[in-house]
Amino acid sequence: MSIEIEGLVVRYGAIAAVSDLSLRVPEGAIFGLLGPNGAGKSSSIRCVATVQVPTAGHVRVGGIDVVARPEEARRLLGVVPQHLALYEALSVVENLRVFGGCLGLSGARLGDRVAWGLALAQLEAHAEKVVGTLSGGMKRRLNIAVSLLHDPRILVFDEPTTGVDPQSRNHIFETVRALHAEGRTVVYTTHYMEEVEALCRDVAIVDKGRLVACDQLDRLVSSAAPRAFEVRVEGSSAEAVRAALAASGLHAAVSARGRSLEDVFLELTGRGLRDAS
Ligand SMILES: Nc1ncnc2c1ncn2[C@@H]1O[C@H](COP(=O)(O)OP(=O)(O)OP(=O)(O)O)[C@@H](O)[C@H]1O
Ligand SMILES: [Mg+2]
Repeated sequence: MSIEIEGLVVRYGAIAAVSDLSLRVPEGAIFGLLGPNGAGKSSSIRCVATVQVPTAGHVRVGGIDVVARPEEARRLLGVVPQHLALYEALSVVENLRVFGGCLGLSGARLGDRVAWGLALAQLEAHAEKVVGTLSGGMKRRLNIAVSLLHDPRILVFDEPTTGVDPQSRNHIFETVRALHAEGRTVVYTTHYMEEVEALCRDVAIVDKGRLVACDQLDRLVSSAAPRAFEVRVEGSSAEAVRAALAASGLHAAVSARGRSLEDVFLELTGRGLRDAS
């Protein structure tokens, strides 16, 4: 297992942010962690990242207990925090050097990894720019790069696409997929369901500090019985469809749909495949 959380409790005074959470992230997974605001996702991630001491319970990263051996656990982990953690007054490349130094890199290795980080974030052309002047998407990309400079094999992304445009979001997706394809384990937290559907095979849902579901995405979705059906009838009127359904004893809401741009496109250009023969 890459990450094992057992009976985790996190309290902030009277607030119980995490209550008896148990979760296992298998090696090589892209694991979606979902939950409403205040569900306890970031509090759990901070325990995994060794920056928060659990009130109770155990967290192991690559089999290493994060409380007993935090430095060893940190070497395996790259945690991209929910809130941007960058030095706004420093340049892009200075940020990479400072974070690389904090992650234990120096000399030629640091130089190599700074170049890797610039390429990962696609910020080579902006290396000397002061971070405070960058767009939100550029900062998010840099926030990812500075967290992964030590080449960890277990990556945790806490809402990495908050406030970015579709282009930066797409770049972040491609980055996550590429890092996973190289054999790393990924935990991905977001409020956007379509991101989890696009990226993740395994999904956990937490609410009020507790695990409410954990399964493969397709099993989780198909386990619910379908409640609505889409039936497509062409060349008829809404009245005729309604009458036919009523005659069959089915009570159905029927609405007619106009042509979509795709319908128009296919009517104008035909439905035949254009494969070269
Ligand atoms: N440092 C803190 N001090 C006090 N309460 C906190 C602290 N951090 C989080 N909380 C509270 O703990 C609960 C869980 O917060 P947490 O940030 O872990 O949730 P989350 O699932 O990450 O939410 P979001 O989706 O909004 O990021 C919330 O009620 C929050 O207000
Ligand atoms: Mg959070």
